[in-house]
Amino acid sequence: MPVSPLLLLSLVLLALAVLTYFVYASFAFGAGYQPTPRRAVRTMLRWAEVGPSDTVYDLGAGTGAIVFRAARIYRAQVLGVEVEPLRYLILRVRRRLGANGDRIRLVWGNLFRLDFHEATVVTAFLWPGAMERLRPKFESELRPGARVVSHCHKIPNWRPTQYDPETDVYLYRWPDARAP
Ligand SMILES: C[S@@+](CC[C@H](N)C(=O)[O-])C[C@H]1O[C@@H](n2cnc3c(N)ncnc32)[C@H](O)[C@@H]1O
Repeated sequence: MPVSPLLLLSLVLLALAVLTYFVYASFAFGAGYQPTPRRAVRTMLRWAEVGPSDTVYDLGAGTGAIVFRAARIYRAQVLGVEVEPLRYLILRVRRRLGANGDRIRLVWGNLFRLDFHEATVVTAFLWPGAMERLRPKFESELRPGARVVSHCHKIPNWRPTQYDPETDVYLYRWPDARAP
């Protein structure tokens, strides 16, 4: 049966609208959607020396590139916060289907409303404006010894302990990262 060109066009437009929403709508909150590349995730978790005694906060958890690896490979307790409801649902489904659900907490909400006192490691792949907004929160809430690893964007006025140009990963240690 031939498909009408109008129906085809409507389906393409609908798919484009859904894709645009999925990738860009969360920009208003701090970043659009793009999974952290696997090599960068590996560098982030290795550099932050994540282990079973850590509590990792992934700020803007997306579909879980960092959350599930930190729980499965590094045995950490992980909290993933995600504002966009479809991605939050995907995270819930992945947690339900995976083997490490007991180590993973998921929060549907705005990362700027979280309290970071409990975090020993914070991971982020956010927009520069979000990193700027996070800095004072980090400075008042992170405990000494906490590590922050960011892909792509630095924390303004903080001094990284390490930077890897290949994966574009910054590692900060609090409070050493405080600018002199
Ligand atoms: C570039 S993606 C990174 C995804 C994920 N960390 C990963 O490793 O694949 C940024 C994510 O942050 C989410 N996000 C942006 N602003 C947020 C906010 N204020 N609160 C919670 N999540 C937010 C977006 O919806 C998006 O899923």
